[in-house]
Order: sequence, then C-alpha cells, then structure tokens
Amino acid sequence: MNRDGTNTDGTTAVMAGSTDVGAAADQDEPAMCFDRATLAYGDRVVWSELSMTVPQGEFLAVLGPNGSGKTSLLRALLGLAPLSSGTLDVLGRPPRRGNPAIGYVPQHAGFDRDVPLRGRDLVGLGVDGHRWGFGRLSPADRLRVETALDDVAARPYADEPIGRLSGGEQQRLRIAQALVGNPQLLLCDEPLASLDMRYQQEITELIGTWSRERHGTVVFVTHDVNPVLAYASRVVFVVNGRWAAGQPDDVLTTETMSGLYEAPVEVLRVRGRIVVVGEASGAGFDLDEPHHFPEPVASH
Ligand SMILES: Nc1ncnc2c1ncn2[C@@H]1O[C@H](COP(=O)(O)OP(=O)(O)OP(=O)(O)O)[C@@H](O)[C@H]1O
Ligand SMILES: [Mg+2]
Repeated sequence: MNRDGTNTDGTTAVMAGSTDVGAAADQDEPAMCFDRATLAYGDRVVWSELSMTVPQGEFLAVLGPNGSGKTSLLRALLGLAPLSSGTLDVLGRPPRRGNPAIGYVPQHAGFDRDVPLRGRDLVGLGVDGHRWGFGRLSPADRLRVETALDDVAARPYADEPIGRLSGGEQQRLRIAQALVGNPQLLLCDEPLASLDMRYQQEITELIGTWSRERHGTVVFVTHDVNPVLAYASRVVFVVNGRWAAGQPDDVLTTETMSGLYEAPVEVLRVRGRIVVVGEASGAGFDLDEPHHFPEPVASH
C-alpha cells in the first residue's frame, strides 16, 4: 500500500466507505454468482469456466497455491479484473469499481516503519480515502471510526504509528478500515499471513463474528484452511486453472484434491485438522507446467 492509502495498482485500499447504503442488495440476492467465468491476463488463463453461487451471509474460503488466481478472484469481484468469458454478478449486479457495499482487505505488503499514519487515520481512510487525517472527518464519521476501532478492539493502540505495531495489530486496523463503511461483502486477501496461531485465531474469529452478527458475506483467501474450518461454510480451491467449489467436506477429499492436482494427493484428518499430503501439495509442485482445463471437479 502507498502512503496515501491506495494500492500500488492505483485502487483505493478499501472500496467501502461512503454513506451510500442505498445500494444495499436484497437479502435474497446471492452475494456472488460466477457462471462459466474465465479470467485471463493476455494469454495467461488464470482460472477457467468457474461456476459458483454464494448466498449472502456465507463464509467462503479461497484456497490454492501461489499464483493460482486467488487475488485475481477478489479483483474480479471488485471490478478490477474483467472476465475474458462468462459472467459474474456481485450482490445482484455486474462488478463495478468502488462499490460501497464491498469492504476489501488487500494482501498485505507491510507498512514502512516510519509511515506517518496512525491506526485511527488508517481506519478513517475507509470512510473517505481522499482526505487525509482523522481530524478532517465529520463528527458522524469520527463516531463510525471509533465504533470500527472498538469492533476490532484496536482502540488502545489507535494513535500509534502503524508501522511500529505488530503484524496482528496492523491486521486488526486494516480490517477495521474495511468494516468502517458497513459493507455487505468483505473480501480478505490472506489476512492470516505471517501471524502466529493465536493471532490467526483472533483475526478469524473477528471476521467470523462480523459475518454471523451482520449476516455479512466473507471471502477469505488463505493458504491453510485449518484456521477457518470452524467458520467456512463453503470453499473454492483453485489449482492450475482448475477449480473445485462446494462445502468443505465435499471439496477437501482425497478424490477431489487428486483430481484438482492431477496427481495422487491424500487428505487426512488429524485431530480436527486437515492435512493434505502428496507430491503435489508441497513446494515441489510445478505451477509453471502447461495448463489443462478439464471439466470442473465439483460445482454448486
Ligand atoms: N495484472 C496482472 N497482469 C498480468 N498477470 C497477472 C496480473 N495479476 C496477476 N497476474 C498473474 O496471474 C496469476 C495469478 O495471480 P494471483 O495474484 O491472482 O495469484 P494468487 O493465487 O493470489 O497468488 P499468491 O498466493 O502468491 O498471492 C499469476 O501468474 C500472476 O503472475
Ligand atoms: Mg494473492
């Protein structure tokens, strides 16, 4: 993220953040509906023919190895990456940039230790990403910022320079920034990266609780499904352009995962944790091999 709260691609870090709640979707409208959706950058097909409907209020875990297109899936939902074929509706409408119904926690590149921004300012950028500093917000918007800080229990360190806070504290503030606009859909790109297990649990619980209490929909990108197993009502696993989507127990099986990786993979359940073993699951899996696009393994 740049110093002004924008991402390196020029988008604002948080798509939420106006008082435009008139755009709220009907609760019966799915949060998202992919229909034979293919996303490509030039010749590079990232995922192909993805079909998946996610009702509002669900917690979708997005899984897959590096470069499999998890961030690209969020970018499609944000209207930042157009599909090359197929369709996508988000809260009943085609994706559009700056949709105030969507809160976004981008994949974290880390804050510079000396960035002149307090936690409170960062959250304030979620209310109005163009104006600088908490002091410029209206009293009503300040109240929203304080509520968001309370929601993530970040008030004790809200006035510290964000670059000096721990990874877990920074992550809470980034989530508050995404929630301050009262979104219906919250997109979190690897919010657990580089956090230890305790912080992983706290962050996951925070987001899961928000979803339950507000009937908000969560799209949660994570390398490890285990921290979100108690919350995820649905998963989509992407590997080399192929995908499998559905309930965790249906997707995270030896059969489905072996089909996805096109190699023998075993899915074990050990003390309530899911462990995927096999050549394909490790770092040795060759992501650069030619892509094949067979029929999806599972679609719901
Ligand atoms: N704007 C872009 N232009 C061209 N190629 C891109 C662009 N964004 C991503 N890619 C490529 O698309 C593929 C998927 O990238 P993406 O960032 O979605 O993967 P990811 O699953 O989020 O990976 P990671 O786990 O490393 O974050 C990668 O090969 C990447 O290099
Ligand atoms: Mg990514």
